[in-house]
Amino acid sequence: DLTVALARAESLIALTPDYPEPGVLFRDISPLLVDAAALEAVTTGLIQPFRGAFDVVAGIEARGFLLAGAIAIAAGVGTLPIRKAGKLPNPAASIEYHLEYGSAVIEAPGVLEPGARVLLVDDVLATGGTLAASRQIIAELGGDVAGAAVVLELEELGGRRHAGAVHSLFRTGG
Ligand code: PRP
Repeated sequence: DLTVALARAESLIALTPDYPEPGVLFRDISPLLVDAAALEAVTTGLIQPFRGAFDVVAGIEARGFLLAGAIAIAAGVGTLPIRKAGKLPNPAASIEYHLEYGSAVIEAPGVLEPGARVLLVDDVLATGGTLAASRQIIAELGGDVAGAAVVLELEELGGRRHAGAVHSLFRTGG
């Protein structure tokens, strides 16, 4: 049953204290991705509210790519990579957004059909800046955001205030 499989998947998320800096508890979904049953459960769970409502799944670099590939096959749709700056020869859209310290840029290739319904996927929702910028990227490409889904939402950072509606499988108040 999916609830049981998801609870097991959540238990596989690895916690590393004081990474990448003191006081931060880093959460890594790699042990979940390497486990076939956990990957299947998470793939099913991420798609569930959006079944039939998207034509393309966009994965956000880097762990989002892995989830998007699995979702694409399970849902019978294609996938679009949303990249960090400097990886694409000819990006069709580029958005700069603010991080807690400094800023970042994400880019995407111009390969979407106009009006394509896009599901955005990432591993973690933190401050929400990356997801908010990804919504802008899809709009610039001429697509429609059908929804956003993440494995883990760090609720204490209030990311959904910036990122808009998000379907999160697991949530932590820290
Ligand atoms: C993490 C995560 C999200 C982003 C969320 O990526 O995978 O993409 O941060 O943060 P935000 O909600 O505060 O914008 P990271 O920068 O660690 O890159 P990686 O996936 O390439 O490791």
